[in-house]
Parts: sequence; structure tokens; C-alpha cells
Amino acid sequence: KFILDLTVTENLQLHTNYVLLKLTSQSLLPEMLPGQFAEIRIDGSPSTFLRRPISINYVDRKRNEVWFLIQLVGDGTHQLAKAKQGDVINAIMPLGNYFTIPENPSNKLLLVGGGVGIAPMLYLGEQLAKNDCKPTFLLGARTDKDLLQLNDFSAYGEVYTTTEDGSYGEKGYVTQHSILKKIQFEQIYTCGPKPMMMAIAKYAKSNNIPCEVSLENMMACGIGACLCCVENTDEGNLCVCKEGPVFNINKLLW
Ligand code: FES
Repeated sequence: KFILDLTVTENLQLHTNYVLLKLTSQSLLPEMLPGQFAEIRIDGSPSTFLRRPISINYVDRKRNEVWFLIQLVGDGTHQLAKAKQGDVINAIMPLGNYFTIPENPSNKLLLVGGGVGIAPMLYLGEQLAKNDCKPTFLLGARTDKDLLQLNDFSAYGEVYTTTEDGSYGEKGYVTQHSILKKIQFEQIYTCGPKPMMMAIAKYAKSNNIPCEVSLENMMACGIGACLCCVENTDEGNLCVCKEGPVFNINKLLW
């Protein structure tokens, strides 16, 4: 992992509660894999932790850029969202493990994202597409205003959506989407709110579909020191920041 000073190239406001930060580095950005994250230092806010974990949303190698999708939830993220073009942001990255990309991926891979948990699915989709696979995306959110980057996703595969209020796509939760009855998927990857991931894991188990989840447990140190991110697994309590964030559902005691 590296400690990098990244320069903001773009700060895009996506609806009211989300920003997309695009950052570049003077040196070539390191190798990063889908599912990995960065610990981003929050400067200028006394009431926040020193760093925040933000998952890697996309890597644009041509422009030497890394993208972070940020939901504005508290002081730290509001502070981050103020970053302007040219500002420097310090990040430790890449951290954590990553999604398993099959050697010969089939076209029956399902990538499920909920809320801001869609973030790693874009980079995963791009990497799968690079391996000649056309993944299916199933993205869920509370309302149409929380469904983000749909155009970016559609560059790599078919996109299906749900909203809880029915303002876009099918009404309800991702697990209720009709596509799950139409296609027998061979592998599922998911990231989002825990109840959603648990429901997806249950669906995957009952249909015998291998499934990996990226956990978003609260993190502080990001390096396995504070133990605030532990998850109960078949090997006991594991730090999500160090041993994860990606786990096969068979490992989790859900
Ligand atoms: Fe501190 Fe994982 S965030 S141990």
C-alpha cells in the first residue's frame, strides 16, 4: 500500500447527497483491484476521525485517475465534498482484499449494488468487461435521486434497477426484481446496506449460487488495530478492514 497525495481533477455533485471525486497523482497510480478501498484523510474538521474508508469506484488508466463516490453523511464526508479542483487529498491505498474474478467469466454474473454500495460495482464491471464478459447490474436505492452513475454502468452490461418508492425501475427491493426469476445467474457479487446483502446472500444460498459480499462495517483505523470493524466468521472475529472487505458468504455466520 502507498501513501499518496492526490490532486482533485473534478468534483461532480451527483444529486444533493453525493459527490464524485476524481483524483490524479503525479506518479503512476498503483495497481488497484475491484473491492479495494482507500483511507482518505479528512483535513480541516476537528470533530472527525483522521481518515475515512472510501471504496474505489473506478480507475481511469488513460487519465491516471481514481474515482471515489462519496455519500454526504456527516462532518467528514461534507468536508471532503468541499474539495475543489487542484486541492490535494492524502490517501492510503489500495487497502483490503478484492472480488474474485473468474478466469473465464461467463455472461451470467450478477453485480448487485445498493445505495452508495454501488461504488465498487462499477470498477468490477469494467474489469469483467475487459475479460470479455458482459455482467448484469442490479442497482437498488431508496428513490431515483439515490440511483447514481447509471450511464457509466450501462457501458459494461445490462442495468436493472429498483427503488423503494417506485420512482425509477421496479418498485421494491433488489431481491424482488423480476430479473432474478428470469435468469439463473452463476455468480453474484454484492455491496450495499447489510440487510440487503443478507437478503442477497440468502437468495444465493437457496439457489446454490456462489456469492461474494463487500462489507461496509464501520472502520476507524483501517489497518487492523482498533477492532471496531470485526465481523463474526467461521474463523472467529475477523477485521473487515484487513481480512476483507470482500468475503465469500459461506464464511459469514449470517
Ligand atoms: Fe480498525 Fe478495522 S478499522 S481494525
